[in-house]
Amino acid sequence: MAGNSAYDWDAFDSEDYLEHNYADLHDEDRHILNVLRDFFSDLPFDSDARGVDVGTGTNLYPALAMLPFCREISLLEFSEANRKWLALQLRDYSANWDSFWQVLAEQEVYRTIQRPRERMRRRTAVRKWDILDSVPEEKWDLGTMFFVAESITTVREEFTTALGRFCALLKPGAPFAMTFMQNSSGYEVGGRHFPALGIGVTDVREEMWELGNRLEFHHIDVGSQPLREGYSGMILVHGHVK
Ligand SMILES: C[S@@+](CC[C@H](N)C(=O)[O-])C[C@H]1O[C@@H](n2cnc3c(N)ncnc32)[C@H](O)[C@@H]1O
Repeated sequence: MAGNSAYDWDAFDSEDYLEHNYADLHDEDRHILNVLRDFFSDLPFDSDARGVDVGTGTNLYPALAMLPFCREISLLEFSEANRKWLALQLRDYSANWDSFWQVLAEQEVYRTIQRPRERMRRRTAVRKWDILDSVPEEKWDLGTMFFVAESITTVREEFTTALGRFCALLKPGAPFAMTFMQNSSGYEVGGRHFPALGIGVTDVREEMWELGNRLEFHHIDVGSQPLREGYSGMILVHGHVK
């Protein structure tokens, strides 16, 4: 068993991770975007919420999905390499994200944003953060955490801690969405191994029932182009913090 601190997150190869996962829009992400877009679009928010995405890595689509509803979005990331990548990307994000935005723009509230690049530049801020560390006073109105709790450790207690700390970042009643790799055996980024805890939907349910209300669970099948060997789909949960 290896905990989060056993890995060199600052050496995370951001470009390799992006290239492998987000250079093109895969079926799984399209499925997740559809559910996320419809969940957020039904919320009674104007554009004044403070959003947070934890462990952003090189994935901009959770922040893009929160964009119409937020006056600011904090991107909390532990890895220095990913923070540097984000700082550069957010100045003028790359064309690969346009196909992700197009899925979101199937809903009117997204289409009203004429220049999503400019809005991302103005409304996002990257911060150094350890989700396993203590909970701050600060609370956000809306949050996402994608492929983090199960993909930063092989230790069950750290998975539990990450979920609890994520929910504790949000105000009571705040909506959130999280995704997980199912039964993942870990992953390679730039030739380095990174950990995962092999969890299934039952594990997520067990952890979340006392943290959230109105929970909805979605299983996402492995698409026509699996990202790699060693996982059996993805899990999406959304709901409201207790
Ligand atoms: C599998 S990647 C997921 C990245 C991205 N959210 C996505 O959807 O692809 C895990 C991310 O968690 C970050 N991470 C690792 N340990 C962390 C910690 N203790 N606190 C916050 N983030 C952490 C990594 O740097 C990496 O960006």
